[in-house]
Amino acid sequence: MPQTSAPRPQTPPWWQRGVIYQIYPRSFQDSDGNGVGDLEGVTARLDYLNDGTPESLGADAIWLSPFYPSPMADFGYDVADYCGVDPLFGTLEEFDRLVREAHARGIRVVVDLVANHSSDRHRWFVESRSSRNNPKRHWYVWADPKPDGSPPNNWMSEFPRVGRAWTLDEATGQYYFHSFLPEQPDLNWWNPEVREAMDGVMRFWLDRGVDGFRVDAAHRIATDPELRDNPLVETGEAEPRRDENWPEVHAILRRFRRTLDGYGAAPGERMMMSETYLNDLASLVRYYGEAGDEFHLVQNFLFLRQPWLATGFRAVVDGFEAALPPGAWPDYFLNNHDHSRVASRYDEHAGASRAGKGPARARVAAMLLLTLRGTPLLYQGEEIGMTDVPVPPERATDIAGRDPERTPMRWDDSPTAGFTTGEPWLPIGSDAERVSVAAQRDDPASMLSLYRRLIWYRKASPALLHGSYRPLGSAPEGVFAFLRAVEEERLLVALNFTGGPLDLDAGALGQTGRLELSTDPNRSDGESSMRPLALGPDEGVVIRLA
Ligand code: GLC
Repeated sequence: MPQTSAPRPQTPPWWQRGVIYQIYPRSFQDSDGNGVGDLEGVTARLDYLNDGTPESLGADAIWLSPFYPSPMADFGYDVADYCGVDPLFGTLEEFDRLVREAHARGIRVVVDLVANHSSDRHRWFVESRSSRNNPKRHWYVWADPKPDGSPPNNWMSEFPRVGRAWTLDEATGQYYFHSFLPEQPDLNWWNPEVREAMDGVMRFWLDRGVDGFRVDAAHRIATDPELRDNPLVETGEAEPRRDENWPEVHAILRRFRRTLDGYGAAPGERMMMSETYLNDLASLVRYYGEAGDEFHLVQNFLFLRQPWLATGFRAVVDGFEAALPPGAWPDYFLNNHDHSRVASRYDEHAGASRAGKGPARARVAAMLLLTLRGTPLLYQGEEIGMTDVPVPPERATDIAGRDPERTPMRWDDSPTAGFTTGEPWLPIGSDAERVSVAAQRDDPASMLSLYRRLIWYRKASPALLHGSYRPLGSAPEGVFAFLRAVEEERLLVALNFTGGPLDLDAGALGQTGRLELSTDPNRSDGESSMRPLALGPDEGVVIRLA
């Protein structure tokens, strides 16, 4: 009789194993000297991201911020054609080549799906605003003014400088709704034609071989069809906001997911992740879907609100772990193109002429990101410890003040950082020395070396990839310590969030452990006493337990 062997444990899908690297195409690599990054530039840097060896960063996937035709009022997050490439960034053929070259290196490609709104130059909106009777009128959210001429309700734009989320179209006498800029009218997701059109957009990119989508402003896609006012003060669940997190959003996302699942040879082959700014964890985790049928990865923005405190970071992780529905997979990130860089955000006491604590803390943050249970998302430039670059008012471009974290990637120490041969669209910054790939590549003490070590170590560690997570209750204040374990491997991660040395009593875990990694380049690996485990100032360690 043929022997039936025990089913092999399923290999987790790529989006659970891998590191997802976010590329902001404008600022990654310019290939034609116009000062703006482009798709050919990304292709040229793929070996840096992953050439299959630990000499490279080891990214498993890239998430590309928008490169679609756009008037660039919000730098591509105002899409004028969902199925094309802006000439500034290249051509569709160049996109196809990028996908081919990425796949040849085992790098997956995730693109941004800006479903909540289009550009006001999108032909859908041009038609929609042309008359009240236009067939596309109800593809967007139009409403009459109040009797006194004021906007239909009290909804506000997400960008404080914009103010009201409504703009009057003089010609047709109605207001249209925009969650962001007036140049970004919200699509009307109650209209089935809009749902069908976006299916078509997803298919267009899936047919070209993309591995997934990051859905922009996912929590805002559906809004109250009756357009009622938001409650004036946050009064909790009884009075939910009416301009975001509207229940119908989940039906729309399930539809996205069905479209996505229609592609790919195996379940989980293609991936969908959210942008979801929701502080309430119960609401947030609903975006995984009640039957696991919405997002594979739900972005949790709570790290970005944490001051540099072990207790705060631990509370976010413990809270997320506890809130996750069965089978849901967490993911973590420390910033993106909308948020201050880690080395700057935590750089208290920085003086005008010297760096403060940011660089040391950014190393601890890197270790945290790469050792937690969950998929790490890494924003370009974080791996070399880039800081927010002050942008003088005359060069400022973004209405929401996000230029400093969007300045070009620093490839070398030349005046234009190897990013462009032309004039970069945003300044490079003056402390480029050492904060560049070229300066750090061969320096074992550099941030880049630390990131590479962490990423490649993680790839080879079953405990880090899919082990359990258990916080260590006995850690002293200021230390976030946790165990990651599978049957064959147990690792202790201990992160000192303070600027002084601290002892962790880890004796209950054994007499000694093997120090595998430290954020302190001067500490060498080898046996380490656990009674107590000594941590240097701002030091994080990974210890292998016997
Ligand atoms: C998301 C993007 C941000 C953009 C906004 C409007 O938050 O990350 O950059 O401004 O959506 O599309």
